[in-house]
Amino acid sequence: TFSAAEKAAIISIWDNISGNVKIIMLTFDSRLFLSFPQTKTYFNHLDLRHGSTDLRRHGGKVLGALGEAAKHLDNLEDALAKISDLHAYNLRVDPGNFELLSHCILVVLASHLPNDFDTTAHAAWDKFIHTVSGVLTSKYR
Ligand code: HEM
Repeated sequence: TFSAAEKAAIISIWDNISGNVKIIMLTFDSRLFLSFPQTKTYFNHLDLRHGSTDLRRHGGKVLGALGEAAKHLDNLEDALAKISDLHAYNLRVDPGNFELLSHCILVVLASHLPNDFDTTAHAAWDKFIHTVSGVLTSKYR
């Protein structure tokens, strides 16, 4: 469960990044795919060139899902049920990749929101992103 202070920190950072295409792009393109190239194997069918329409669209969907999750912190299992099924049964993404993506999201937030992403926000987002990842990988077994 999330405290009132954690919820406020999560929502406040979300308000900063929603609609920010630059951060979306950097998360996936520059960080996840360049720092951890093995993650690209799941995206063979997409155009992974820097700034591609595919990457923008996918980044937007993932950030949209995070935005929905941020609004349902007391009920993440239900809020994420559909994409949890998708990742476990259809995409079969190895759970280790969620650690890599979570790491990248925190790095990108820290480097792009140096003032807002303080230690309180860092701790709250770490908990948030790992809880979301936990829900998305919970149906594997
Ligand atoms: C698709 C969310 C982690 C691989 C998606 C979609 C969403 C989403 C919302 C689009 C679903 C749709 O089109 O209806 C998330 C969230 C994550 C996460 C919130 C963690 C915080 C990952 C990871 C990988 C991954 C770690 C693999 C490295 C994929 C793939 C697709 C997808 C391959 C399908 C792309 C396509 O064909 O357009 N994800 N995802 N996801 N995700 Fe994730």
